[in-house]
Amino acid sequence: MPAAAGPGGRKPLISGNWKMNHTHLDAIAVVQKLAYSLSPADYDRAEVSVHPAFTALRSVQTLLDADEVPIALGAQDVYFEDSGAFTGEVSPVMLAKLNVAYVIVGHSERRQHFGESDELVNKKLLAVLRHQMRPILCVGETLDEREAGTTEPKVLGQLEAGLQGVPAEAMASVVVAYEPIWAIGTGRNASPEDAEAVCKSVRAWLGERYGAGVAGQVRVQYGGSVTPGNIAELMAEPDIDGALVGGASLDAERFAQIARLGQPAR
Ligand code: PGA
Repeated sequence: MPAAAGPGGRKPLISGNWKMNHTHLDAIAVVQKLAYSLSPADYDRAEVSVHPAFTALRSVQTLLDADEVPIALGAQDVYFEDSGAFTGEVSPVMLAKLNVAYVIVGHSERRQHFGESDELVNKKLLAVLRHQMRPILCVGETLDEREAGTTEPKVLGQLEAGLQGVPAEAMASVVVAYEPIWAIGTGRNASPEDAEAVCKSVRAWLGERYGAGVAGQVRVQYGGSVTPGNIAELMAEPDIDGALVGGASLDAERFAQIARLGQPAR
């Protein structure tokens, strides 16, 4: 069996981002199937989180708690204020009360379709940390940026802006998800070598900013067309510590296979 943790002792984190899919009823059915498919050995190998829509969080939380399923609950977004006149928004206080462990911030779909700036993403990230949850900070370049050779400045710039004001002692709680925008939902994943190169730069940047000890603890996920067929080769790279999975996480069987890091069910 593979070691429980990868290089630097980091336990991989496999996160299912369901985006605007699954009603609360569908979500319950998927989580029930996932819980049935995954064994204690699988949870030893990788931590697993699911990120349903806000409308399904409470149902999924109730199910996870009642059956003591060791899957972490995650949200896809949050607002940075604790409460107030912000029609339509959901606060970190509300998420924390639901035992949400991980909150995605700065997903490229939020940046692109909803105009989220680096500054807003940073405020959200700080709000998540303030409420003892863990942010998953998404960074990644467009196809134009990749072709222009500006992947690294784009990604490191998003990192720098998104992590403003985060002290070293909070950094181990932060997860970084490198998601090249051209690979999201396209069926065209980054090659393991290309993904590793960027994840390695992310860790080197973290090392310069926070020191090697902290950089060695931070988990860096890859996201963008991850499937049961490519997870193992991605995870074989030393600086890739898990995956943020969209489309392939909607189906319990496919997501379970990814959560097993490509290993067959026992
Ligand atoms: P995908 O989405 O797996 O469907 O490419 C990944 C993501 O957006 O997190």
